[in-house]
Amino acid sequence: MSIPQGGLCKQVMERAFQQRFETSPAWVVRAPGRVNLIGEHTDYNDGFVLPLAIDRAVWIALRPRADRRMVVHSLDFHETTAFALDELLRGKHGWAEYVKGVAWVLQEKGYAIRGWEGVVAGDVPVGAGLSSSAAFELALARAFAAASDLPWDAATMALLGQRAENEWVGVRCGIMDQMISAAGRAGHALLIDCRTLHTEAVPFPSETTVVILDTATRRGLVDSAYNQRRSQCEATARAFGVPALRDVSVERFAAESGRLDEETRRRAWHVLSENDRTLKAAEAMRHGDALAVGHLMNASHDSLRDDFGVSSRELDVMVECGRAHPACFGIRMTGAGFGGCAVALIRRDLADSFTSQVAASFRSATGIEPVVYVCSATEGASVV
Ligand code: GLA
Repeated sequence: MSIPQGGLCKQVMERAFQQRFETSPAWVVRAPGRVNLIGEHTDYNDGFVLPLAIDRAVWIALRPRADRRMVVHSLDFHETTAFALDELLRGKHGWAEYVKGVAWVLQEKGYAIRGWEGVVAGDVPVGAGLSSSAAFELALARAFAAASDLPWDAATMALLGQRAENEWVGVRCGIMDQMISAAGRAGHALLIDCRTLHTEAVPFPSETTVVILDTATRRGLVDSAYNQRRSQCEATARAFGVPALRDVSVERFAAESGRLDEETRRRAWHVLSENDRTLKAAEAMRHGDALAVGHLMNASHDSLRDDFGVSSRELDVMVECGRAHPACFGIRMTGAGFGGCAVALIRRDLADSFTSQVAASFRSATGIEPVVYVCSATEGASVV
């Protein structure tokens, strides 16, 4: 049921580098994927999110080069990309575009970067909504920072990773995924103010653990639906005459939202209510109140399903299966939606029973084999 963990580590990466380049790497870096506990579709509205960096990551072993060339081999795709830092050309979409995108954005920002050669591998499942892209961007940023002796500031690097994704790879996304991959704290979730990028590490209630429940469904529509939701939110903020939905108070919304059409009103209400739930969940975490956190997670799912319209049948079934188990404090879809994963906060002592029983009931309800596993909160991008 669970994916074997710990396959990737410093030694494995060092050995892979040695085999390819016949010498030792100077550094091994890693940057984690993430799961979001609560605060969904709030980041691009300048709101609040509460994700954790997970124990799945993208790893790079590298050594600087004397010329200004890059040579990177992907152990997952069995491909090598090679190019000069002074001749960055867009290729067709693929993993190599991330390498070029991060090199481009660092140079755009005026950093003097050196070329390096390296091997890359990851165990963040691709397309599951666990931010394998952000993990790759931050691992690359960490690698460039190591090779070029750049200062490492998590928020600065997260913004650069987001810009590489937006402008080079061409995918619109908020700042949550890059921020948590850059700044995650072991054993904690991170309350992120997506306007100021202020972060606060909040501990988990004792005796709880986080479970990721992958429905094994992937929807092609995610990008267009994401962009559409985003535009709707931006248009509503404009209608209220404010920079972002974050600036509309619940009172003002209650008084003035009558003029919006029903769908637009419900989309905006999700964002407003989700910001409120996220702040309350962080407060409940500080007090160790797992019941309250779980209750807010459940309400978040219902809002994403009914008001924001980004759940799917399989996600709803997974959430129902999870809620039926006595170990569950709360469960919700996580990430952009339309497929991918749910996240649950559960009693740690019942984790085995929870993962096996929920997987079995999901399987019998849908005929799909899910992947359900306990995860732990790790540090953000680092040299290991
Ligand atoms: C995707 C984006 C994030 C965020 C979530 C929804 O993961 O990359 O920036 O908007 O969707 O909360």
